[in-house]
Amino acid sequence: MKLIDLYRNRKAENPKRILVTSALPYANGSIHIGHLTSTYLPADIFVRYHRLKKNNVVYVCATDEHGTPIEISAKKANLKPEEFVKRYRKEHAKDFKDIDISFDIFHHTHSEENKKLAEHFFKKAQEKGSIYTKKVDLMYCPKCTRYLPDRYLKGTCPKCAAEDQYGDSCEKCGATYQTGELIDAYCAVCHAGPEKRTQEHYFFKLTQYEKQLKKWLTTNRHIQKDVKNYVLNWIKEGLKDWDITRTGPYFGFLIPGEKNKYFYVWLDAPIGYVSSTVKWAKMNKENWEDFWHDKNTDIYHFIGKDIIYFHFLFWPALLMAADFNLPTNIPTRGYLTVNRDKMSKSRGTFILLREYLNRFPGDYLRYFLTSVTSNNTTDTDFSYNEFQVKVNNDLSDTFGNFVHRTLTFTVNNFDSEIPSSGKMSKDDKLFDSKINNLAKEVGALIEEVELKKALETIMEFARECNRYFNINQPWKTVKDNKAKAGTTLYLSVKAVCMLSMVLEPFIPSISKEIQSTLGIKNTAWGKISMKPGMKIKSPKPLVVKITDKDIAEDPFSALDLRVAKILSIKDHPDADKLYVLNIDLGDEKRQLVAGLREHIKKEDLEKKNVVIIANLEYAKLRGIESQGMLLAADNGPDVAIVSIDDAKPGENVSAEGIAKKPITGFKFNDFLKIEMTVTKKGNIAYKDTILKTESGKALIADIGEGAKIR
Ligand code: MSP
Ligand code: ZN
Repeated sequence: MKLIDLYRNRKAENPKRILVTSALPYANGSIHIGHLTSTYLPADIFVRYHRLKKNNVVYVCATDEHGTPIEISAKKANLKPEEFVKRYRKEHAKDFKDIDISFDIFHHTHSEENKKLAEHFFKKAQEKGSIYTKKVDLMYCPKCTRYLPDRYLKGTCPKCAAEDQYGDSCEKCGATYQTGELIDAYCAVCHAGPEKRTQEHYFFKLTQYEKQLKKWLTTNRHIQKDVKNYVLNWIKEGLKDWDITRTGPYFGFLIPGEKNKYFYVWLDAPIGYVSSTVKWAKMNKENWEDFWHDKNTDIYHFIGKDIIYFHFLFWPALLMAADFNLPTNIPTRGYLTVNRDKMSKSRGTFILLREYLNRFPGDYLRYFLTSVTSNNTTDTDFSYNEFQVKVNNDLSDTFGNFVHRTLTFTVNNFDSEIPSSGKMSKDDKLFDSKINNLAKEVGALIEEVELKKALETIMEFARECNRYFNINQPWKTVKDNKAKAGTTLYLSVKAVCMLSMVLEPFIPSISKEIQSTLGIKNTAWGKISMKPGMKIKSPKPLVVKITDKDIAEDPFSALDLRVAKILSIKDHPDADKLYVLNIDLGDEKRQLVAGLREHIKKEDLEKKNVVIIANLEYAKLRGIESQGMLLAADNGPDVAIVSIDDAKPGENVSAEGIAKKPITGFKFNDFLKIEMTVTKKGNIAYKDTILKTESGKALIADIGEGAKIR
């Protein structure tokens, strides 16, 4: 049979289609482990399961590329928004790939397909009488020449008088208010005072869909109870029509017939789910309408709880307006906290996915996060300590240990050949039936998106496997009753085979490693594909235990390296070898004492952008305080300063993958333990990573490869 026929047959057997989406990540920042926890990992597990079931499942995602923050970030980076988003598109794709998120397509919202569809949705909504225009009062910054969305407008809270609050709500007292109510409002970008301006905006009549939304929410059996109640409450309090217009400068799609009015990013973002399906269908000679118009499709959107409103109200209403299929389920997870605190860059609890991947295998994180994330909107906590405990206890001691002892025993005592089942005792049969039932039990849980429970069921089974092995003592029976040892091992290998299959959606790399050791090529959910007589390979250790040292922070992350501009230089009055420098650090000016006088002339330092340790403990050098230290490269005879041509004073300098978690009062002695060297190209590297500024520029030292930074 040809492959295509096989595929058609499969489709005929499983007429139901499943479309899975994960919320589209903004192309404005890197993927962190919070994104993964709520949105990408659960969807991927769900999809991998359905693929193993040979169901007709497609998993789509894309970068969300529009909106004011992206437009402003691009401008800051001196790039066209189109170019700016491309960088993140690439980065995201690589990050997701490296943790085995298996999208069938990773598209983007600033695409031809999405533009066409956004216009289509708008037109359909117009035809339904769901679009109207209305004059609105907006804040405009004359200096930035742009309208200011709430996040870009700050001022004093009209309720509690707290300063520096956002345009729509106060973080101090929790009050929400209208933009115009803010006292002493200012532009968050340039601090200028804004003006009020009136504009005509397009609105989507959300209120028109109230009844339909309520019906959908109350009749759908899949939607999580916690979210359902939440959303029904919003409806009860009264829906408001939705302003879908933004005025340029904006990065987005122009509203048809308009010159400077764009669709608000949240209008075209979820349409990205459809346009990604369109793109996928084009590439795979499929029909996208099967997924969005044919009723025989289940649609699952995986999201985090901060975007409930968009996915449970705006999006279904848009789908209703355009006569598209409604979602079957919208699995919604809570936030990820780190060390029980909101992830925050300044507290050093912001863990980028890349930073994690530089330290540990992806499967460990997939395992840990799934084991602590419930099927509801309660928050999940990550800490490296708990991560270590779970990985060591469950993955290594329970699961890895059973697999390893079973396979090693087979290699050593049965010449690497899976023994025959022999005559099974009552206990053997009981264990056998547990093996046979596992896939069904776990599968039913995964279908309900009860991933934590599914994983617990698997781990309980792995514990059972160890008990079985211990009670039957094959290391003893192999000496006097080899047939019995054979039965024990036959069933143990069968259990390993089953474990590798049910764990494949959760920890794909480790599972595939086991399958390759067993010589299994194609896995199918519930199908045991090992047989007596099959030769297995020598097992490699599957899970390496995490030591205390492994989870200790990288000392580099405590450093606060920043760009500084040298303003002036003079000789130290009481030391021949020292200069006293005045530097500009963006927000502040400081004085440094540097031992460069023997090596570098004053005029070679003047006006240069250098890199300093901004959080070094202040020290007096021959009576003059040094408020930091500039980086220089040293190869014995020569010394060169580390500089950077085109950078802003105060800009952060960091090593990719190592989150900056600066401490105050960094000790000079600790700095000596951090080894940075000059690369072939004259850049500076820490542990093979080139140091760069926030805007992506590498540092330079004109001295030759191998020189050390001091
Ligand atoms: N671009 C929007 C989604 C558009 S969907 C049509 C967006 N992007 S995001 O990059 O901010 O977030 C991507 C996903 O990660 C969202 O589902 C969001 O809820 C989730 N999370 C973002 N931060 C999170 C945590 N700290 N913890 C858990 N999930 C988090 O929202
Ligand atoms: Zn401004």
